Amino acid sequence: ADSDPLQDFCIADLNATVIVNGFPCKPASAVTSDDFFFDGLSKEGSTANIFGSSVTRGNVLSFPGVNTLGISMNRVDIAPGGMNAPHWHPRSSESGVVIQGRVLVGFMTTGNVFYSKNLTVGQMFVIPIGLVHFQQNIGEEKALLFTAFNSQNPGSVVASVNLFGSTPSIPNDVLTKAFQVDANVVNGIKSKFGS
Ligand code: GLV
Ligand code: MN
Repeated sequence: ADSDPLQDFCIADLNATVIVNGFPCKPASAVTSDDFFFDGLSKEGSTANIFGSSVTRGNVLSFPGVNTLGISMNRVDIAPGGMNAPHWHPRSSESGVVIQGRVLVGFMTTGNVFYSKNLTVGQMFVIPIGLVHFQQNIGEEKALLFTAFNSQNPGSVVASVNLFGSTPSIPNDVLTKAFQVDANVVNGIKSKFGS
């Protein structure tokens, strides 16, 4: 969902002081082969957290070579029993492929229709831009996926963390009404997300 580049490449200068919409280019004279390669997705991420999952990002912030190209990739590790919790990307569609394990992949439309499928190694999925989605490890072993985006910086909003872990905290009467539960339920969820 990003716009097209106006030159061959524009390796992001992440330290630039002026940022308009994306990052300015570092001088071509300073560009080397290393700027077009990234090994950050080669390592397994730690899944020792409440969701039992880890998303390692190859976006413009970690891989400046994708600047202005409208693409990026993630590595997703999910422990047995874990999931990549419901979230959405405001600036990108997502495609993905399962490399290891068995994974339930699902998303919900703006009309609240839920589409999902159990996937195994080599199978691919697509998540339309902006729709809430998740991946759950439904196997006995760890799961590994790679995902790809049509944005250098898709953004990721995790629904539960966004609503119950914001800074400052969303007033309880908003959340009790929205979810039709008591304040003690809201406080219980907030306590899990540090808000
Ligand atoms: C998976 O949903 C990801 O955003 O990488
Ligand atoms: Mn996603």
